[in-house]
Amino acid sequence: MKFFLDTANVDEIKRIAKLGLADGVTTNPSLIAKEGRDFKTVIQEICSIVSGPVSAEVIGTKAEDMLKEAYEIAQWAPNVVIKLPMTEDGLYACHELTQNGIKTNVTLIFSVAQGLMAAKAGATYISPFVGRLDDIGVEGMKLIRELRTVIDNYGYKSEIIVASIRGIAHVEQAAIAGAHIGTIPGSLLPSLWKHPLTDIGIEKFLADWGKMKQ
Ligand code: G3P
Repeated sequence: MKFFLDTANVDEIKRIAKLGLADGVTTNPSLIAKEGRDFKTVIQEICSIVSGPVSAEVIGTKAEDMLKEAYEIAQWAPNVVIKLPMTEDGLYACHELTQNGIKTNVTLIFSVAQGLMAAKAGATYISPFVGRLDDIGVEGMKLIRELRTVIDNYGYKSEIIVASIRGIAHVEQAAIAGAHIGTIPGSLLPSLWKHPLTDIGIEKFLADWGKMKQ
């Protein structure tokens, strides 16, 4: 499974990129606003750190506005991907951008039907939100398993980005379900390489080594 970082924080991205673990980055308007920096500057900086796809989301709600933003954003860096909302206008924009060779990520997907629509419109990536489904008492990971089946059934080219990941279990379950990509908050990712028994084990090895007569 590829790891994308779900953050617009450049320090978090640099830390993970150094380990070779950042296959791409996803941002959204909330994450960009949190950084308090200029949208274009942040996206271009991220695109220079990570060679993989970097999603930048449009804020227009009408297809015409989405497309205007998308054609502008697409010029910012060669690895930028246009993130579009899962609406009729978003699908229209996705279809047109795909026809023009621009990569897209259709976001805010909460059902198999929505994922199917985005795949059929040619989305490079589809982003189902597992955490927000769990929040309303619906098993988010079930949607990932079902979307994987649909994509395999018909050979759609879209890759599933598991989004709204809230914990290690989500990452593990996404990989087991065969998701192509998990987009992981920058603050969560370091917890993936940690385990209390690893720390206890290191402590014991060092203590035993210290007892050895030199
Ligand atoms: O990738 C989408 C993600 O940022 C949403 O996460 O935790 O706000 O549901 P969350």
